[in-house]
Amino acid sequence: MDVKPPLGLLAELTHRCPLHCPYCSNPVELVSRAAELSTADWLSVLSQARELGVLQVHMSGGEPLARPDLPELVAHASSLGCYVNLVTSGLGLTAPRLDDLVSRGLAHVQLSAQGATRERSDLLAGARAFDHKLAAAALVKSSGLPLSLNVVLHRRNHDQLAGIIELAERMGADRLELANTQYYGWALRNRAALMPTPEQLAAAEPVVRAAVSRLRGTMEIVYVVADYYEPYPKPCMYGWGARQLTIAPDGTVLPCPAASAISTLRLSSVRDTPLAEIWYRSESFNAYRGEDWMSEPCRTCDRRELDFGGCRCQAFLLTGDASATDPVCSRSPQRSLVDLALSRPPAADLVMRR
Ligand code: SF4
Ligand code: FES
Repeated sequence: MDVKPPLGLLAELTHRCPLHCPYCSNPVELVSRAAELSTADWLSVLSQARELGVLQVHMSGGEPLARPDLPELVAHASSLGCYVNLVTSGLGLTAPRLDDLVSRGLAHVQLSAQGATRERSDLLAGARAFDHKLAAAALVKSSGLPLSLNVVLHRRNHDQLAGIIELAERMGADRLELANTQYYGWALRNRAALMPTPEQLAAAEPVVRAAVSRLRGTMEIVYVVADYYEPYPKPCMYGWGARQLTIAPDGTVLPCPAASAISTLRLSSVRDTPLAEIWYRSESFNAYRGEDWMSEPCRTCDRRELDFGGCRCQAFLLTGDASATDPVCSRSPQRSLVDLALSRPPAADLVMRR
């Protein structure tokens, strides 16, 4: 098949993070500090990514501010002509650090929040973080950079949706991403505690719709649905190995951020293989590209060009077979796995990320 170059790189600089969010989609086993790529490794990876065609670099983690070499990496990616986005909890973002990053070419900041109020937000972050986030948002706004606010929604904060939208307005966010939890990595452990109720989702719809229309032209709002409740899966990653690649802190190259969970996939590393070779020729990137890997019902389904058979990670995590139809799909013979999860009573306890 005709493989196009990637547009975006998610550079997971570190898994170290000051927060303990129970919905964390990073793997259960995190990469240790000692196993992280060096500065020289990342500089080379960024050059290779640009050569390959990457135009957007999302510096993420964990908390990317935990890497002292972040300014150097931002400067390098920016000098290559990439649009550089910092994905941060806001903890550790000071005025001098932000000024430095801006002077080195940082173009955008995506800040996370866990709830609308200090009390709820800090409870869900497992840390005193809310005030730091308000301060970080103010710094970003005064720097002139565009600001996105990202809030993961679930059973424990859906009731604050209107307040979260107000928070984004108060922060002056240019974009608000309201993303219902996706159950990968650590989040899957907490699925029974995080799953929103149908009533919460029904209540959210008019609130989001009204905000989208009221704030049109001021703040873009993106709402990511709770796919377990949907009849068809999301077009995950717009297709496997189609648009974006992720590099984990230890240099493992992933077709999607959650792909390390697919234990049957042989993953490649930038430590021993050039990035272009991994993108175009590796087993992992070619495993679910296009349609040849599909079995029925996807193979002959009229929706296969819309959703690409859904999410490979979800298929693996729920069925043990990454080439299965995403069980979220109502046409999947394994949809009962999702229905069963939805029918379970909610769990009382959240296991915070450790
Ligand atoms: Fe998508 Fe496959 Fe379901 Fe068809 S059967 S809607 S291609 S996941
Ligand atoms: Fe990996 Fe969907 S999260 S393919």
